Amino acid sequence: MGFEFIQTSVDGAVGIIRLNRPEVLNALNLKMVEEIVTALEEWDQDKAIRVILITGNDKAFAAGADIDEMANESTVAMYQKDQFRTWDRIAKISKPIIAAVSGFALGGGCELMMNCDMIIASETTKIGQPEVKLGVMPGAGGTVRLTKIVGKLKAMEMLLTGEPITAEEALQYQLVNKVVPVELYFEEAMKLAKQIANQPPVAVSMIKRSLMTALDSPTEQALKYERNGFYLLFSSEDQTEGMSAFIEKRKPNFSGK
Ligand code: CAA
Repeated sequence: MGFEFIQTSVDGAVGIIRLNRPEVLNALNLKMVEEIVTALEEWDQDKAIRVILITGNDKAFAAGADIDEMANESTVAMYQKDQFRTWDRIAKISKPIIAAVSGFALGGGCELMMNCDMIIASETTKIGQPEVKLGVMPGAGGTVRLTKIVGKLKAMEMLLTGEPITAEEALQYQLVNKVVPVELYFEEAMKLAKQIANQPPVAVSMIKRSLMTALDSPTEQALKYERNGFYLLFSSEDQTEGMSAFIEKRKPNFSGK
């Protein structure tokens, strides 16, 4: 994959996307978002990849949408471009996405992070939605996802003051899974990615879909979705392998079929 604003690499069954505009703290321009989503979609179709990790650098995961790119836009131009359609494609990725976050995760950077399925943060992470300070508001899910995760009161405070919170506070509000020293956040995220990459991929993707369905559907409907997924997995080779390995007291070897 040849990209301008991201770097991609593979470690075992983990595809790694590194945001790469360090001179502007990884500010997300339109092309960069398109590149991130393209890499996610390509790896979602690639059987050799089982988990995707998104990271930036120690100083910045991403300091938000590129302000220079949008400062002089008109409403009509914004409407016609409808840039957030690209972001909607992230929610359709069936493989787990882990964010390894350090430094600034602001505005679109916070929204990108919240679009991931699990988040490992360094102690130096600062997370916020500062759009209000620019006279605008979040557009890629900031008022929606943040509120669902941290609740109304904290979301209101963060969105209306625009002030970032620390990694420790983010942990308290379950906005990140784990906080580790800055030297360890990438390694820790890779460890989690590799652990999940060793699990049976069809079950992993079904569990992700079921969980995402549960977030946005009435309980009865979500329970039906879950039940059907459970039954469906009994036609996978991984179910036969997983249960046989347990009974035969050996390690399973999952094929992803
Ligand atoms: N867009 C464009 N450029 C940005 C940027 C952004 N979001 N964030 C940082 N940069 C650039 C700076 O302009 C600066 O460039 P120059 O060296 O050419 O001047 C460079 O990155 C380094 O930044 P600073 O000198 O400002 O670094 P700092 O350490 O003093 O401050 C910061 C860091 C607090 C993150 C500050 O850069 C900042 O406030 N950035 C903007 C954060 C923001 O408002 N994000 C929300 C954007 S809107 C959005 O995301 C909408 C949405 O919902 C999608």
